Amino acid sequence: MPEPARAAAPAAVVKEPPFIRIEGVTKRFGTFTAVSDVTLEIQKGEIFSLLGGSGCGKTTLLRILAGFEDPTEGRIFIDGQDMTDLPPYERPVNMMFQSYALFPHMTVEKNVAYGLKHEDMTAAQRQARVREMLALVQLTEFSHRKPHQISGGQRQRVALARALAKQPKVLLLDEPLAALDKKLREHTQFELMEIQEKTGTTFVVVTHDQEEAMTLSSRLAVMDKGRIMQIGTANDVYEYPNSRFVAGFIGSINVLSATVREVKGDLARVDVPDLGDTVDARAIPGLAPGQEITLAVRPEKIALSRTRPEAANAFAGTVQSLAYFGKDSLYRIALPSGRVLSVNSVNARRVDETERVADWEDAVFLSFDPATAILLKD
Ligand SMILES: Nc1ncnc2c1ncn2[C@@H]1O[C@H](COP(=O)(O)OP(=O)(O)OP(=O)(O)O)[C@@H](O)[C@H]1O
Ligand SMILES: [Mg+2]
Repeated sequence: MPEPARAAAPAAVVKEPPFIRIEGVTKRFGTFTAVSDVTLEIQKGEIFSLLGGSGCGKTTLLRILAGFEDPTEGRIFIDGQDMTDLPPYERPVNMMFQSYALFPHMTVEKNVAYGLKHEDMTAAQRQARVREMLALVQLTEFSHRKPHQISGGQRQRVALARALAKQPKVLLLDEPLAALDKKLREHTQFELMEIQEKTGTTFVVVTHDQEEAMTLSSRLAVMDKGRIMQIGTANDVYEYPNSRFVAGFIGSINVLSATVREVKGDLARVDVPDLGDTVDARAIPGLAPGQEITLAVRPEKIALSRTRPEAANAFAGTVQSLAYFGKDSLYRIALPSGRVLSVNSVNARRVDETERVADWEDAVFLSFDPATAILLKD
């Protein structure tokens, strides 16, 4: 077969220099290390999220970017300039704090204008900018109300308008949607994305909510104990996690101990005692026969069937329990070894009792595509 035609490789890939560069930043409070040797590059116009559990150092890193905290080690560059020794007000950065800190006695309009207090502008310019910002966040008709006369989502937008009024090159947002209920949060996520697109401002968002980070971000960094564990798009970190921590933090996943048997091109065959068989999985660099490794498979990548499918990875089990959630069902499948795996099955058709793939205590088969089986070294 002839080689498929390939486009000529570009002579030199021109990559934009990073807009923000965090270089080897460490922050210690006494003997406690809150941020540990973080190096990170963010491009202009990105919505970049810092994602991690409580206390992992997200706010501290954001405060270092804003200049409210000095790094113990390392440097901060924005737009090619070293910011490390500059105070907050000399940086092209604005921060939207977790509690929006609106002034209760001031109208929406005055709250937004307050963001321009130190700007060298005429009254007319200031008024024009406030109007522009209120239009941007669709609050023009609420400009004369006070914060207690508008909804939580609208307050969030006032805070956003105030933070954007100075037209910072970088906007830092610390848990911007945490105060909103689930429905409003989802809606506001899309508004944030639209506003980011309209203004072209680079957003750095802190969140502990993985769904939010995945929806909002062009890229995200997963943090743990002050360190960056992985940086990538939502798809990268979900489909190609680089560690057990990231695999478990983003979504849910079945994790099994395995030993490498052989590697053939893109695939690795591993022995998995809990499955009582070998499994074909996507190979990762640096595998050697005999190596102990972790096999991880997401619940929604596993198919259930009544008869043994013709698949490389197919195993018998018994339905131990099942939970029906409407759009999908979660099955717990017991293997002969005693291990129980989670399987998530989308209910595309209307399901009634007789139509289910499997019911409690049914004998079933599990199968998954080798490309969806993840191998993790640590
Ligand atoms: N000024 C300080 N002095 C001492 N320790 C601090 C200080 N500020 C933060 N820390 C500690 O540093 C760690 C990281 O704090 P940080 O506020 O960055 O966490 P976070 O990731 O934003 O968490 P959360 O999601 O709960 O807001 C925590 O263990 C915290 O107690
Ligand atoms: Mg925080």
